[in-house]
Amino acid sequence: MILVSKPADCGLQGEITPPGDKSISHRALIFSSLAAGRSELSGLLESEDTLATLRACEQLGATVTCRAERIFVTGTGGAFKTPSNGLLDMGNSGTAMRLLAGVLSGQSFDCTLTGDESLNTRPMRRIVVPLTMMGADISPSENDTAPLLIRASGGLKGIEYDSPVASAQIKSCVLLAGLFASGTTRVNEPHLSRDHTERMLPIFGVDLPSPCSVEGGSRLKACRFAVPADISSAVFALAAAAMTPGSDVLLRQVGLNPTRTGFLRCLEAMGADIRITNESSKNTEPVGDVRLVFNGELKAIDVPDSLVPDMIDELPLLMALATRASGVTRIRGAAELRVKESDRIAVMAAGLGGLGVGLQEYPDGIDIEGGQVSGGRVASAGDHRCAMSFAVLALVASGKILIEDAEFIATSYPGFTDDMRRLGANMQLVESA
Ligand code: S3P
Repeated sequence: MILVSKPADCGLQGEITPPGDKSISHRALIFSSLAAGRSELSGLLESEDTLATLRACEQLGATVTCRAERIFVTGTGGAFKTPSNGLLDMGNSGTAMRLLAGVLSGQSFDCTLTGDESLNTRPMRRIVVPLTMMGADISPSENDTAPLLIRASGGLKGIEYDSPVASAQIKSCVLLAGLFASGTTRVNEPHLSRDHTERMLPIFGVDLPSPCSVEGGSRLKACRFAVPADISSAVFALAAAAMTPGSDVLLRQVGLNPTRTGFLRCLEAMGADIRITNESSKNTEPVGDVRLVFNGELKAIDVPDSLVPDMIDELPLLMALATRASGVTRIRGAAELRVKESDRIAVMAAGLGGLGVGLQEYPDGIDIEGGQVSGGRVASAGDHRCAMSFAVLALVASGKILIEDAEFIATSYPGFTDDMRRLGANMQLVESA
């Protein structure tokens, strides 16, 4: 599918509630499938990625029903059953694969985790190393990628793991395996990555002995859980409004966990007018309404290294935004972008370069010059976040932008085009163009 996105005739106006948080939705499904009893989940993201997790949880023995926009999950009490053909397909989702690899390492059956073309090229050594240290029997394919064959092991032991990368997927994988290990499992990381696992486990009845650690043998209990709106989806409307004169948009009940708000801090540093109201807490996750009123040209910034983990999924959008800021925006310390759903530095550099943007690519980042952006055709490389970033940029380009492989937007935000149109953007999905 091609997404055709056209320059805006006027500012974006109105309010939307973005879909449920993807990271939290994956965890809510996995934790409730492990729990004893029936959990009630509301606000869950229904996208390709979270549906892959939901299907896997069903194959592992959880029962999932849906009624009145609520999902009810009857869990397995901690003992998953063998999936019928011994194979689970996680589609495009790195979070689903890495978190479930942790859980499956502690089960008493063999299982293979696979994914689509993109997922099966992403690095898995980062979880194979700590899981093997714990005693798991896990074999990746050539080049340390998925498919991953996980065999029943003789039992896991708790470890203290110093993760070389600030990655919530690694941290959560090890902590989930730790629930099935003897003793305590602890993860240290170079910078606090998103901490949803640590915030959510206590709600599912698992107390953490100290931050970022779990006690082996802890059992999860069913609960009622509400998922906040995804800040990683909300940012597209916010960025669009920050670039488009005359805009005033309100995003309702967005998750504002400080490990996820780096993009808002950058937007403010670039001069955007962001107002947060109605702040409260949803199952220990801070939430609030975020309003952005266009207030003139943005200015370029040097993105501090320390903010990179807090906005890792938003960096492609920041690259798009930087094309409209006066000066040169510099991003460094972001080599992780090269191993996401695509090589996001290369994909954004190729797309923006083709639209006439001045830029310089680095192994761990990019410099982007503010200026005019032309229309044209860009490859999203099947990466949902790159596709949506180009779509937003088209609002301020000098001609329409055609984005290839746009069906992948459904990975995280199936209602993206509808929501953007509701705010006044002119974009449309077409079969071919
Ligand atoms: C996620 C963690 C991040 C993020 C991904 C979701 C999670 O990945 O990019 O979209 O839900 O734990 P890393 O842990 O690899 O940084």
